[in-house]
Amino acid sequence: MKNILAIYPGSFDPVTNGHLDLIERAAKIFDRLIVAVLRNLDKAPMFTLEERVEMLREATRPWANVEVDVFAGLLVDYAQKRNASIILRGIRAISDYEYELQMAMMNRKLGPNLETVFMIPAEAYSYLSSRLVREIARLGGPVEGLVPPAVEQRLRAKVF
Ligand code: PNS
Repeated sequence: MKNILAIYPGSFDPVTNGHLDLIERAAKIFDRLIVAVLRNLDKAPMFTLEERVEMLREATRPWANVEVDVFAGLLVDYAQKRNASIILRGIRAISDYEYELQMAMMNRKLGPNLETVFMIPAEAYSYLSSRLVREIARLGGPVEGLVPPAVEQRLRAKVF
């Protein structure tokens, strides 16, 4: 019996309903899923690493086969350390494809045994991104329905 472990890496600053839609879909396909939050962001994140992890842990509680972890350094090294065989990435639109293809090819060069699997979120989330959520929240706009309620509260607390 295969026990397929997938890693869903990202910044998750903050987790959105689009990420959660993908996690829900992936949790049905893979035996286990690790949502891996990148420790070293080039740009200063809105939420600390601890906050991002806390929000993800709370939001992914419904799925018993989903774990939230932190990684630093190369993704392929982390995947090898965790014995994962799949890197999961979401593709919302063609505009995502170029960057994602480049990353997938580079990760294949660095770790030939790892496969990148792309999944598509529900159409309702095809225009959603953490960056836009941060911007809307900073400018006082509504983020209801874009992020889980707990994230909405934290966004409000950050900006007021
Ligand atoms: O949510 P993001 O910001 O699009 O996620 C990007 C992420 C974290 C997947 C990517 O930056 C990454 O894997 N960083 C780790 C360093 C690494 O392995 N770089 C080489 C990628 S080809």
